[in-house]
Amino acid sequence: MLTVEQVAACGVVPVVVLEDAEQAVPTAKALLKGGINAMEITFRTSAAKASIEKVAREVPEMIVGAGTVVNVQQLHDAVEAGAKFIVSPGSDAEIIAEAIRLGVPITPGVVTPSEIMIGLKLGLKVFKFFPAENYGGLKTIKALSGPFPQIKILPTGGINQNNAAEYFKNPKILAVGGSWMVTKDMVAAGDFDGITEKSAAATALFKEIRKDW
Ligand code: 3PG
Repeated sequence: MLTVEQVAACGVVPVVVLEDAEQAVPTAKALLKGGINAMEITFRTSAAKASIEKVAREVPEMIVGAGTVVNVQQLHDAVEAGAKFIVSPGSDAEIIAEAIRLGVPITPGVVTPSEIMIGLKLGLKVFKFFPAENYGGLKTIKALSGPFPQIKILPTGGINQNNAAEYFKNPKILAVGGSWMVTKDMVAAGDFDGITEKSAAATALFKEIRKDW
């Protein structure tokens, strides 16, 4: 089974919102060109399932996952479509347990100790801290590290090329997530070169900071 660590190895996990499944394959290819080999396609649009299916079938080098999974039905749809990992904005014990049963890695969203404890009880070690910047960013992550030294964090929400470095420098951070390399506008405009450019800049920053780790 794939681990969240393998999914997040390139340091950035783009949060992708696609209105049209036809954009999925060119977006995935543009990300790969920029050094990003995992993408989270969110269930915020009706194109999510078909988009995941297309990437899973046509771009096998891309580790495609499902984001914004807020109920068990979406989890089943995602896995059926070929999603290799699941991200949720919150912590729901039923969704987490079902993902574990299905053998698909899941990263639930947390901002409080109690939410972390829901996942810990079910055996998880990696959590999405969302929305990161609104909930105190690194300062809060450092405070949460006290009682939970065993966990790793994937922060998302308000992270971009300008503030990613401070997250990369923190050993609690597995990788960061965000939409800045694949904005809705870029996808709508078909700006795939722009997606590659922003992806390359983000992965280069991660590599530069972590090169001696
Ligand atoms: C998410 O679901 O992780 C966020 O929508 C990403 O946040 P961002 O758009 O601020 O990067």
